[in-house]
Amino acid sequence: MLRTHTNGELRKSDLNQTVTLCGWVDSRRDHGGLLFIDLRDRWGKTQIVFNPSQKKAYDEAQKLRAEFVVLIRGLVAARPPKTENPKLVTGEIEVQVTEMELLSESEALPFEILEELGVSEELRLKYRFLDIRRREMMGRLETRYRIATAVRRYLDSQHFIEFETPYLTKSTPEGARDFLVPSRLNPGSFYALPQSPQLFKQMLMVSGVDRYFQFARCFRDEDLRADRQPEHTQIDLEMSFVAEEDIFRLIEGMLTEIFRSVLNINLKTPFNRLSFDQAMNRYGSDKPDLRFEMTLADVTDVFKNTGFKIFQESVKQGGVIKGVRASGKAFSRKDFDGLTDFVKRFGAKGLVWIKVKSVQENLFESPIAKFISPEEAKALINTFQAKDGDTLFLVTDEWERACIILGELRKHLGGTLGLIQKEGFHFLWVVDFPLLEWNPDEKRWQARHHPFTSPAAQQLDLLEKEPGKVKARAYDLVLNGTEIGGGSIRIHSEKVQEQMFRVLGMSQKETEERFGFFLKALKFGAPPHGGIAIGLDRLTAMLLGLDSIRDVIAFPKTQKGVCLVSDAPSSVSEKQLREIHICVKNS
Ligand code: AMO
Repeated sequence: MLRTHTNGELRKSDLNQTVTLCGWVDSRRDHGGLLFIDLRDRWGKTQIVFNPSQKKAYDEAQKLRAEFVVLIRGLVAARPPKTENPKLVTGEIEVQVTEMELLSESEALPFEILEELGVSEELRLKYRFLDIRRREMMGRLETRYRIATAVRRYLDSQHFIEFETPYLTKSTPEGARDFLVPSRLNPGSFYALPQSPQLFKQMLMVSGVDRYFQFARCFRDEDLRADRQPEHTQIDLEMSFVAEEDIFRLIEGMLTEIFRSVLNINLKTPFNRLSFDQAMNRYGSDKPDLRFEMTLADVTDVFKNTGFKIFQESVKQGGVIKGVRASGKAFSRKDFDGLTDFVKRFGAKGLVWIKVKSVQENLFESPIAKFISPEEAKALINTFQAKDGDTLFLVTDEWERACIILGELRKHLGGTLGLIQKEGFHFLWVVDFPLLEWNPDEKRWQARHHPFTSPAAQQLDLLEKEPGKVKARAYDLVLNGTEIGGGSIRIHSEKVQEQMFRVLGMSQKETEERFGFFLKALKFGAPPHGGIAIGLDRLTAMLLGLDSIRDVIAFPKTQKGVCLVSDAPSSVSEKQLREIHICVKNS
């Protein structure tokens, strides 16, 4: 090593040692003849003193500017009394320089490497290599690494083997769009970057691997948000001869190990569980945020004899009436207009609000007040446990839509009314999902999770008769309202898998072309198996209390899928295009 110590290492116990340190000039102060610099590296900062009595080093040090890289040799000395810096672990000492070597110069920075940064994210992403010099950013990436290390340690103790699966693979789109890679050697043919290693990990179960895991980079060409990147990393795993409970126990153990070793927090296990129906009914979401209560209620029955036309009509068509109660705020007409616009974004046709003026007198203020009979008023108050000053919000729609609209309103009100405790980690397993959902545009059933998920036991005979009724052996792991993982027990019978493709509207020919290789593997003694993938980016962000996964990825893409450091994606030469048999049309 060029150095004897790092910049976070020296203490009073090292006094009078001759040391060599390397690092970046963090700051520089000229104090009556003495020149001080703080030398910085990943481990911390050390105060360095240049004294004119060491003329050569002192003169050379005049050249130093912020972020120059230097090597210094010198003597560890106690800082004079009252000049110690308790904020630095090295704050009791300084190094008095005898020799200095300038290793590298730096241009003036586009922004200062400060702990608290007021610059735009765009600039930070453009100069990400500088952004990572900030201790906060470096710390986040180190936490990501600590999580990965805890995962490896834990899975190794559980007899898992880490595998790599191909990045250049076959396009089998289901869900998101694929990123395609043209093949030079096979004109007109394309690889796809994997959306996940799903089929490979299942084939490894056929191989008898039994317990597989991988930090899998997954590529999905979808619209980006704060918690979505075109490439993300999953802690992907698969096990043979297991049922749901085995996966839950394993993942709870893994997260316990992560939280213990990274945050020194003891998680309470087993995690809570809700069925999809319960989660939707109570929280209006399949990834409910349990950091606050504010549950939804069904009041279809309350209004079974209502004179209010909109409710009447909707229920006649099979709809439901659901609502949620908000306390602690006197909403204005303007608030109600704003909230109505808000729910319309999620497909609501309207929002009924009811202000509870007096519980005792069944007194309501509402556009539909005249339609509410005293019995209905009493039933509403009972159902919502309403108190004077509360506001009830009601919507009517088909069940799932009504749940989703109110779930979004619940989240919104939870935020604006300050109900969400920021501290704490509320894990939840959501189970018993429907296997399929109807795609009205393509007029066909599609898998809610993916088409390799096993239908619930004893529901196989429903698969072709009443596909919408079949539940899946799928589960999602939710943390504070974010889906951090998802998985399922898989179909391991080739016959059932073929049947599944049929239900999804795929012809025999299409099935053979797209998934023939996988069906073949299932013919050679496939064990019952299941697995899960946890989003490493999301998990790390949540552990650190961050909203955007970009903050835990070294070189993330922008909302538009651009890497600002390298400017990818970019155009390529005609020659390169010719080689891969691609002709670009300017549209
Ligand atoms: P799924 O699609 O649910 O399952 O993904 C698993 C987890 O990966 C994370 N994730 C993402 N993170 C960032 N950006 C994205 N674009 C993104 N997409 C997903 C989420 C999610 O819960 N093969 C199955 C797993 C299985 O069945 O074993 C799969 O990929 O945290």
